Amino acid sequence: MYVFSEVEQAQIKNFRTLIKGLMSEYRYNHSLSVEKEACELAEIYGCNIFKVAIAALLHDIAKDMGRHKQLELIEFGNHIFDEQERNSEGLWHAGAGAIYIMKNLQITDDEIINAVLYHTSGRANMSLLEKIIFVADKVTNDRCSAISAKRRKEVQCNLENVVWDIVRNAVVSLAEDGLYISPMTWGAYNYYGSAVGRDLDSQLA
Ligand SMILES: [Fe+2]
Ligand SMILES: [Fe+2]
Repeated sequence: MYVFSEVEQAQIKNFRTLIKGLMSEYRYNHSLSVEKEACELAEIYGCNIFKVAIAALLHDIAKDMGRHKQLELIEFGNHIFDEQERNSEGLWHAGAGAIYIMKNLQITDDEIINAVLYHTSGRANMSLLEKIIFVADKVTNDRCSAISAKRRKEVQCNLENVVWDIVRNAVVSLAEDGLYISPMTWGAYNYYGSAVGRDLDSQLA
């Protein structure tokens, strides 16, 4: 089992304190749940656990900031959050969060930044760290649905299957509701559909 160094523990504690002041109690508890789930997955899949812990804690840092602040951040960082992504308000907190951690926390690690940026939309060919945050966010204990519980179990042995299952269900759900589907999510759908096999009729749904 991985043991954090004292310096790492201090940084994690600082980030926990920071996010606690920026979000609701519900969101804070969700972030801690994502951290726990993501670190367990990092152990299983051999990912850098410290980076995973940081990305998990910060993934929703902008979620409770409000539309105005989110848009302000997106305007500031329009180089990483393109025009098409702006069509989906549900994605704003992801882009705003990525920009916030670069601008205000001086985080320069691309993997952490991308994990925050794509944690809602997903994208084609995600890094292991991105996939862990993307999945951990959707299967935590605070999401009490039966489908989350099944995914939480399945993800222990097949991360890619669960990525595909989440992306496919998101596309179906967005389409059924007539909502905008971001190019990033379409990219994830096409990529993981091919990677996992379109004929795999997941038993998770
Ligand atoms: Fe989020
Ligand atoms: Fe989240």
